[in-house]
Amino acid sequence: MFSAQTYIERRSALKRSVGSGVILIMGNEEAPMNYHDNTYRYRQDSNFLYFFGISHAGISAVIDIDSGEEIIFGHEFSMDDIIWVGPQPTLAEQARRVGVYRTEEPNKLPERLKKASKVHFTPPYRFDNMIMMSEWLNIPTSQLKEKASVELIKAIVALRSIKSDEEIVQMEHAVNITREMHIEAMQKTKAGKKEYEIVAAIHAKALEGGGNLAYGTIFSINGQTLHNHYHGNTLTDGRLVINDSGAENAMFYAGDITRTIPVSKGFTEKQKEIYNLVLKMETESIVALRPGIQYREIHLLANKIMLEGMRDLGFLNGNVDEMLAEGVQGLFMPHGLGHAIGLDVHDMEDLGEKYVGYREGLERSTQLGLKSLRMAKELEAGFVLTVEPGIYFIPELIDKWKSENKFINFINYSKLDTYRDFGGVRIEDNCLITPTGSKTLGNPIPKTVEEVEALRG
Ligand code: GLY
Ligand code: MN
Ligand code: MN
Repeated sequence: MFSAQTYIERRSALKRSVGSGVILIMGNEEAPMNYHDNTYRYRQDSNFLYFFGISHAGISAVIDIDSGEEIIFGHEFSMDDIIWVGPQPTLAEQARRVGVYRTEEPNKLPERLKKASKVHFTPPYRFDNMIMMSEWLNIPTSQLKEKASVELIKAIVALRSIKSDEEIVQMEHAVNITREMHIEAMQKTKAGKKEYEIVAAIHAKALEGGGNLAYGTIFSINGQTLHNHYHGNTLTDGRLVINDSGAENAMFYAGDITRTIPVSKGFTEKQKEIYNLVLKMETESIVALRPGIQYREIHLLANKIMLEGMRDLGFLNGNVDEMLAEGVQGLFMPHGLGHAIGLDVHDMEDLGEKYVGYREGLERSTQLGLKSLRMAKELEAGFVLTVEPGIYFIPELIDKWKSENKFINFINYSKLDTYRDFGGVRIEDNCLITPTGSKTLGNPIPKTVEEVEALRG
């Protein structure tokens, strides 16, 4: 937990920005997995963590801007709680640590909301919260998202997008735990092992770091499937394996790093060509980061480098700018270059990417690749975002485009036939935008062909 002053200042800034009314910040409940008492790993809501810092199920908070009151609603611990989960600081004591001096039983919350002339809330994403909010606010569950307060969303996005120095310390820590996870995976990857053996070692490092995973690990020899969570394949010589995994540290900040590892001790020449092209896309994108530039421009820069490289390798023919305008790049990189990261791995995605990564006048494209770009707008000092280009050979997509004669003048489909079992390459780092450029968070994680091969003992 940060000092009480940090949370007090964040709430004051929120109040100033929203102006009037009552702000409701819902905490998360436990989420049952297969029956009530067998729950998924508990994760507090990130807005609640940002403004109130307490990671505890079943609490919510109200900030009454007009009266200035701040109240945390939740049960005080009973003897039964203490018997089952051990002695705890009281809720009142936990609230004091974040500068809140009033706690009330949860059944007082609905009346408090009923008295308010305007209740500001964020779009709920947990169904139990939706049911409760629907009852309290008399809004059908199906309308809660659209009735969320745009003033509140914009105010939170403005605050959470700019990371403070103490948050950057936490984010560097999360990336450094993530670094251990990646080094471990590079050292343990070996032909004959199952993917899940390496996934287990990656998870162990996250736990040893004092937190847990920030998201479900992607570790697969089928890296061409972008979010592949199947871990049952056997690692075989000659394959590449994508490791996209990250730690959430004990303060709930996320790391999100990808490295691509050869299962054999070294990359083949064919693999090196694609790997080094993705590396060039990544490093040149990072060099281009600076305040004021649109991240959409950097996404397009990475795509352009890819198209030039793929043309040089004989996959493409023709004018790169024409290919870029028409969307040929979607065949090889059908995802966006990156996203905001912070307390959430896709930071503030619950609040809507339209506010986090876009702005009025900058709409999302429908083109394959660009349509999945989560961050497109002008960068500001204090933003932290991922840079994660990739090149993939997706047989089903290649077959579809080929059968449609799509971009037949640009794409050398016969060369692609020899890459059907290549898989994919992705390289991802987490970067802070500084006043003059950017800083890649954490200690360097092996990334060049030579650095990765040196760990393949
Ligand atoms: N780890 C998921 C992503 O890179 O967005
Ligand atoms: Mn990732
Ligand atoms: Mn990412």
